[in-house]
Amino acid sequence: MKKFDKIFFSNTIISWQKKYGRHMLPWQNTKNTYYIWLSEIMLQQTQVNTVIPYYQRFLKKFPNIMSLAQAKLENVMELWSGLGYYSRARNLHICAKLVFFKYNGIFPKNFISLINLPGIGQSTASAIRVFAYGKRNAILDGNVKRILIRVLGINCSLNIKFIEKKLWRYAIDLLPKKNIEIYTQGLMDFGSIICKKIKPKCKVCPLQLCCISYKTNKINNFLIKNKKNIKNCSIIMFIVIDDDYVLFQKRSNKGIWGGLLSFPEWILKDKIINFVDNNLKNLIELEIKKFISSFGFIKNYLILPIISHKLTHLQFKIVPCHIFLKKCFLKENKNNFIWYPIKKIKNSPIPAPVRKILFQIIQR
Ligand code: ADE
Repeated sequence: MKKFDKIFFSNTIISWQKKYGRHMLPWQNTKNTYYIWLSEIMLQQTQVNTVIPYYQRFLKKFPNIMSLAQAKLENVMELWSGLGYYSRARNLHICAKLVFFKYNGIFPKNFISLINLPGIGQSTASAIRVFAYGKRNAILDGNVKRILIRVLGINCSLNIKFIEKKLWRYAIDLLPKKNIEIYTQGLMDFGSIICKKIKPKCKVCPLQLCCISYKTNKINNFLIKNKKNIKNCSIIMFIVIDDDYVLFQKRSNKGIWGGLLSFPEWILKDKIINFVDNNLKNLIELEIKKFISSFGFIKNYLILPIISHKLTHLQFKIVPCHIFLKKCFLKENKNNFIWYPIKKIKNSPIPAPVRKILFQIIQR
């Protein structure tokens, strides 16, 4: 990076941050590693405004590493419900136990020990070390990648691993000698306020003078194209409600909604269902028969409008099937089936689309 003025770059980010960056986020102005770690995990792939209320509720219930380490996973999942990427919550809980029991409640300072903890990758470990200990480490989240790719005009049509390695080298090379906390927060804020993915604010950007993609009028040409393999999947969800209770099934700890409560379901992998034909209706009836006999006698059922739900690597179609019972047997919890009181739904650990379906049914 001979021709590029590294000092100009870092100085510009630092002065921009002081003047226009964010200074009053709930996880700022503290050296408490627990607060910083929690915020960095919540902020992985999630925007600041979404995180703030979750972060505040979480700290009220689990104010320190001891309370989180001693918590039940289901109580952690309850507070995570709606934030998405639930493996983060499961890892957070395991990590809290490890820090509490193995490291006497004190987060390790050492980089290698930090990245060996579940849920903490290279960029998160750096952010924790920068904000908690003032260490001179490089972060490389989506915002920073975009800034570097645009400013340095990096050709992203090459192998993605190769580009990542290159970006890490630049991120490290550009680190300023001083003001690492301001610089790091500056990169995060600059990426989400100025160098945005869509409609970047190039007109007011203080890096115009050194930005290759701006100077060559190719602001969107350099970005990594999302060539992720998006998988399709359809789920028939069976909603059984009786006497102010809803029938849930607790999911195993693996997978996207691992550890959460959800409706009993029938999964059709690699399929996208846009409408329910008679053939599918017959198959759905067979599936209903398979599980409903333990809970009661069915009166009828109603297929509700199909819901689309998109995650970064999955495109779901959810077919809600509302089952009405003629007679409901005793509301015993069997295996992983749970009769859950509807009045407790507000704080329950359920995925966002499940909550949406349930509210639609209750409000009918
Ligand atoms: N994204 C990741 N960490 C962040 C932080 N500390 N502040 C704002 N955005 C972030």
